[in-house]
Amino acid sequence: MKTLIFKSAQQAEQKASSLIMEMVRAKPDCILGLATGGTMERVYENIVAEYQKGGVSFASVQSFNLDEYVGLAPSHPSSYHTYMKEALFKHIDIQTQNTHLPKGDAADPVAAADAYEALIETSGGIDLQLLGIGKNGHIGFNEPTSSLRSRTRVKTLTTSTLQANRQYFDSDEEMPHFAITMGIESILSARHCVLLATGESKADAAAHMIEGPLSAICPASALQFHQRVTVILDEAAASKLKLKHYYEQVHPAGEDRLYA
Ligand code: GLP
Repeated sequence: MKTLIFKSAQQAEQKASSLIMEMVRAKPDCILGLATGGTMERVYENIVAEYQKGGVSFASVQSFNLDEYVGLAPSHPSSYHTYMKEALFKHIDIQTQNTHLPKGDAADPVAAADAYEALIETSGGIDLQLLGIGKNGHIGFNEPTSSLRSRTRVKTLTTSTLQANRQYFDSDEEMPHFAITMGIESILSARHCVLLATGESKADAAAHMIEGPLSAICPASALQFHQRVTVILDEAAASKLKLKHYYEQVHPAGEDRLYA
C-alpha cells in the first residue's frame, strides 16, 4: 500500500485528479471506476478544468460507478446518476452510453446488481478505481461486516451512513435505506485502487484501513490485500497513523516514488 501524505486537502485532491488523467492519457480507452461523495467534488472540478484547457479527452473512456441508492430514478436530484452528471459527465466529452451506474430504480434490484457485476467483467475490468472512505470505514456502500469476498449486491445502510448522507436529501423526504454497491471483491478486482481521504473525520478510518487489523469491521482494510493501492491523504486524515513518519520518509511531501 502506497501512502501519500499531503500538507493540504487541495494538494491531495490534485494528486487524485492527476492519477486519473495520467491513466486516461496512457490508455485513452481505459475503464475508470468512479466514486461520489463530498470528497470527490474537487477531484472532478480539477478534471473538468484540465479538460476545458484541452489537456485530456474522455471520448473513448468507459466508467463504472461504485453505487446507487435503491429506489431512486436516475433523474432524482439526490441520485448518484445526477451527482455524476452534474459534477463531471455533462462537462466533458465522455459518451453517455459509456457511463455506467447501478440501476437503483430497477424492478428487481438483486438482478440489477448481478447484471452490473457481469457488465464490469465482460467490459474487461476496471483499470483504475477511485475510492473515498466513510467514517465507519466503508468503501462504496460496503458497510462494516460486509463480506470481504462480496460482489455487487444490495446492502442496507447503517445509521452512521444515513446520517452522513442525509444532507444531500430534502429535509421532508425519506432517504433510501438500501443501495446497490460494488462488493469488496469487485473493488479488489480493479487493477489499481486510488483512495482519497481528507479531513480529521476520516483519520480513524484511514488509520484502521492502512495499519489494520484486516477485518470486515473496517471494509477498507481489505485493500491491504490488493497488489496496487495508492492512498492519498491530507495531514488531518493522516493524523492518527502510527507510522506516519515512515510514509513521509518513503514519500516526502507525497512524492509518488515507484518503490514503496
Ligand atoms: C458515500 C459513498 C462512498 C463515499 C462516502 C464518503 O457513502 N457511497 O463512496 O466514499 O460516501 O463520502 P464523503 O466524501 O462525502 O465523506
